[in-house]
Amino acid sequence: MPVLIRDGDKRRALNCSLGFAISSAFSAVLAAQVPVASLVFEKYAVASQTRESSEAGAEALSRGGNAVDAAIAAAFALAVTYPQAGNLGGGGFMVIHFPRGAGGPRQTTIDFREAAPAKAHARMFLGEEGKYDARRHHWSHLAVGVPGTAAGLGLAHARYGKMAWKELLAPAIRLARDGFTATRGLTASLQPVLGQLQPPEAARFFMKDGRPLQPGEVWAQPELAATLDRLAGSGPAEFYRGETARLLVREMDRGGGWITREDLAGYQAVEREAVRGTYRGWEVISMGPPSSGGAAIIEMLNLLEGDDLAHAGWGSAASIHLMAEAMRRAFADRARWLGDPDQNSIPLPDLLSKAYAARLRQTISEHAASRSSPGSFEWPEEGRETTHLSTVDGNGMAVALTTTLEQPYGARIAVPGAGFLLNNEMGDFNAAPELTTREGLIGTPPNLAAPRKRMLSSMSPTVILKDGELVAVLGSPGGRTIINTVLGAVTNLLDHRMRIQEAIDAPRLHHQWLPDELWLERGFSPDTLRLLEALGHTVKIHSIPQGSVMAIARDPKTGRLEAGVDRRLPDGAAAGR
Ligand code: GLY
Repeated sequence: MPVLIRDGDKRRALNCSLGFAISSAFSAVLAAQVPVASLVFEKYAVASQTRESSEAGAEALSRGGNAVDAAIAAAFALAVTYPQAGNLGGGGFMVIHFPRGAGGPRQTTIDFREAAPAKAHARMFLGEEGKYDARRHHWSHLAVGVPGTAAGLGLAHARYGKMAWKELLAPAIRLARDGFTATRGLTASLQPVLGQLQPPEAARFFMKDGRPLQPGEVWAQPELAATLDRLAGSGPAEFYRGETARLLVREMDRGGGWITREDLAGYQAVEREAVRGTYRGWEVISMGPPSSGGAAIIEMLNLLEGDDLAHAGWGSAASIHLMAEAMRRAFADRARWLGDPDQNSIPLPDLLSKAYAARLRQTISEHAASRSSPGSFEWPEEGRETTHLSTVDGNGMAVALTTTLEQPYGARIAVPGAGFLLNNEMGDFNAAPELTTREGLIGTPPNLAAPRKRMLSSMSPTVILKDGELVAVLGSPGGRTIINTVLGAVTNLLDHRMRIQEAIDAPRLHHQWLPDELWLERGFSPDTLRLLEALGHTVKIHSIPQGSVMAIARDPKTGRLEAGVDRRLPDGAAAGR
């Protein structure tokens, strides 16, 4: 990793073999080994977490498809090649930018977040004697939300795709039917979950001749191929009303889940307005509720616009402090206000306004960290696995697409006969009313489980424009850290004028209001850490890499596309021409 693929005769692959997870300090060394110029494409590009997925997207573009077609083809290929988070049994969000000459400049979004079943209620994760039961919340059939992926990709295709639906599924079907070569990254991530899969016989999906898959072996998934084939033939409705729905509900009934045929038949992806802001003259467009990502990023950028981050310098204690204080405030607002927009009244225009940011900025001191309150608050667990892909076509149309199963391999529950895994996204709802805060004030009502409600997400597929022209398209996995990972990449690009790969490689930071800790990746200077502690921050160095950004930047002068592939996770790849 990473792998670079170009269409045409001169195929090249840069393939550095490293372990499954590497530290950011290590990735900085790797960055020097991969010439930045080698990730430049003249016409179109796709960046995603697997080589096969990026190739599937590039194949769609080479056949005259647009950025939406490419994203759909790449997403279906990820459902085969990246079962950690690529999926049929989960959900996600898509942000689409239409350029001038193709109905733009304008943007829209597709929300295909999973939804709670009709039986859901705020206390459904309480077990015996009303005690919170984390297993019910995260690791049971009750943790599964109604999947949105087939509907979301279907809606994007119906409204904005150019190619035939069947053609977009063809690469994924090929990969599932004929198999693809398992990477070390895939086999290493699979190893710990094999023994946890339900029903236990589902482990055979991820095995080869009854034993764990080895790197370099060809892995075929015939049941998944058959499901994709049904979807290709009958369209996305097959997932919700056809044989796939029948198999999914059978598994729910077997395991005590609540999703019914009616829940599946009633699920709909929704086209929603993007959230948008400006930052020092750039436009930043991202996903609104039920994701918190876009709103939080715009609120933080509004706060930071009052400071000179470029002058403070990348990685300085001053700039990290200001970013952490912006994060603290945006995450407090996230907990207080954000949830499913169809079931909550969210003061979004206020939260996104410059006037609100100006008031909030008054509460930030350059000289001392603030304190987060209330001290009793505990976040529910939120999965760090998810996956992002970016596409740009020859007309400058761009798609940012983030999809998730919540935890790696989701609930670890498979649908026998259908060959795919189910999400545990219900875990993104707050655990129960009295558990969010002793005061009962913050983070509770907007994101408590309720019938057909969509759980709050952090996914942040984002597009940056200047004068209506594409500057960059990006996103990341990482649970709540997604928001700050994308914020960091945006400020690296816009304030610190980094190239896209540099912006991705740079060590990351995260503050989420509570716990009141500043998490830093390795790579910041010890002097900086001491200065941050002197300001009053509780600094924690995290050895686990934060996020995995897949991005494409566009040179405004030449129109050339530069893909950025995160080296924190293995197997990421860019493809294009
Ligand atoms: N499951 C991660 C997210 O929705 O943000």
